[in-house]
Amino acid sequence: MKKIGIFYSFRSVKTKQQVAKIVKYFGKANVQEVDADATTGDEMMQYDKWILAVPTWFDGELPNYWDELLPDLEDRDLKGIKAAIFGGGNQKDYPENFVDGIGLMANFLENLGAKIIGSTSTKGYSFESSKAQKGNTFVGLALDIENQAALTDERISNWVEQLKKEFYAK
Ligand SMILES: Cc1cc2nc3c(=O)[nH]c(=O)nc-3n(C[C@H](O)[C@H](O)[C@H](O)COP(=O)(O)O)c2cc1C
Repeated sequence: MKKIGIFYSFRSVKTKQQVAKIVKYFGKANVQEVDADATTGDEMMQYDKWILAVPTWFDGELPNYWDELLPDLEDRDLKGIKAAIFGGGNQKDYPENFVDGIGLMANFLENLGAKIIGSTSTKGYSFESSKAQKGNTFVGLALDIENQAALTDERISNWVEQLKKEFYAK
C-alpha cells in the first residue's frame, strides 16, 4: 500500500511536535514525512493520500512556504487525491481568523478536484469566525497549543483514528 505523505515545514518547531504524534499514531511505516519548505508539486503527486500541516499566520493567511508552493499545484488535476489538513491557530489572540489557513488550503485543493477528509467538530473551541468553519465543523483539525495544550494529544489521536477509516474507505 502506498504511504501517506505528511507535508509540513521542517523548520516549524510546534508543527513538528504535532507531526511526531501523528506519525506515531499511524505507525512510522505508513507515513512519509516531506519538507514543505523544499518539496515540489511533482513530488507531492507521488502520493495519493496527503496530510498537510497548515498553521495560520499574518492574521488569517497561509505561511510563506505554502504560498510559495501553491502555484506549482494550481494547474494540476488532483482528482483521486484525499487530503486531510490540520494546523495551529490561536483562538484567543485571533478570534476573527481562527485557523483560517485550514479553510484556505481546503478550498484551494477542493477546487482542483481533491477530496478533503478529516473534518472535526467546532465544539470545545471559542472564536468569532473562521474560514475553516462549515456549519458545526472545521474542514480539518484545529490545534491551539497556546490556549488548549492539554486537549491537543486527544484531538490528534481521535483524528488519526478517523483518518485511518477515511483514507482507506472506498
Ligand atoms: C504573527 C502571527 C500571526 C498569527 N496569526 C494567526 C491567525 O490569523 N489566526 C490564528 O488562528 N492563529 C494565528 N497565529 C497563531 C499561530 O497559528 C500558532 O501560534 C501556531 O501554533 C503557529 O504554528 P507554527 O509555529 O508551527 O507555524 C499567529 C501567530 C503569529 C506569531
